[in-house]
Amino acid sequence: MNLSAVIFDLDGVIVSTDEFHYQAWKQISDQEQIYFDREINERLRGVSRMESLEIILSHSDKTYSENEKNQLAHRKNEIYCELLNNLSPNDILPGVINLLMSLIARNIKIAIGSSSKNTPFILDQIGLTTNFDAIADGNSIKKSKPDPEVFLLAAKMLGVKPEECVVIEDAKAGIDAAKAAGMKAVGVGSAAHCVDANIKLNDLTSLDLEQLLEVNEIRS
Ligand code: BG6
Ligand code: MG
Repeated sequence: MNLSAVIFDLDGVIVSTDEFHYQAWKQISDQEQIYFDREINERLRGVSRMESLEIILSHSDKTYSENEKNQLAHRKNEIYCELLNNLSPNDILPGVINLLMSLIARNIKIAIGSSSKNTPFILDQIGLTTNFDAIADGNSIKKSKPDPEVFLLAAKMLGVKPEECVVIEDAKAGIDAAKAAGMKAVGVGSAAHCVDANIKLNDLTSLDLEQLLEVNEIRS
């Protein structure tokens, strides 16, 4: 199958906002005296805000009401958005701009497929809002990764078949979502050791475009 489009996750793939998510959840956990560390944080990658909160609260003995949960999620987002205020194009991760330019030069479409409701703000902050052919995000989906909804929506918005797309992800939930959508997947950073990733990389500086084109020729 020809490669028609590359769908990028946002947090931890395009930009280093995954660290801000960690810092904001750490503040909430400390405030609530709930144990939270980077290993638990790995499970929050790719999943929605409320699902992330549920994972954190599973380490507490206290029972939280829906109202309390909504307040904690709201507060976490306030802390996170304060951190996003300092975001700039300097926070775009290494290799991203070169890859985007190479794909555009080859007429391969580019899209965002993110669980985050803050996607529009983040893209504005890093100056990439107008560069993508489609943006599918947490504002337009019902189920977050590992459900394939966000990637299938991105493919639909681009007018391409799922099997013509490759996803780039830093989350296991994202790799699982790509597979469930019938797409090939590149695992970067935290997902570099994901067994189901077709290509595994520490960061995007080492992604060879020919390798990306070839991966879509492989049968899964
Ligand atoms: C994903 C992050 O991109 O977005 C998750 O990997 C996060 O950690 C999710 O929970 C939702 O983000 P937001 O910005 O809508 O709270
Ligand atoms: Mg991510």
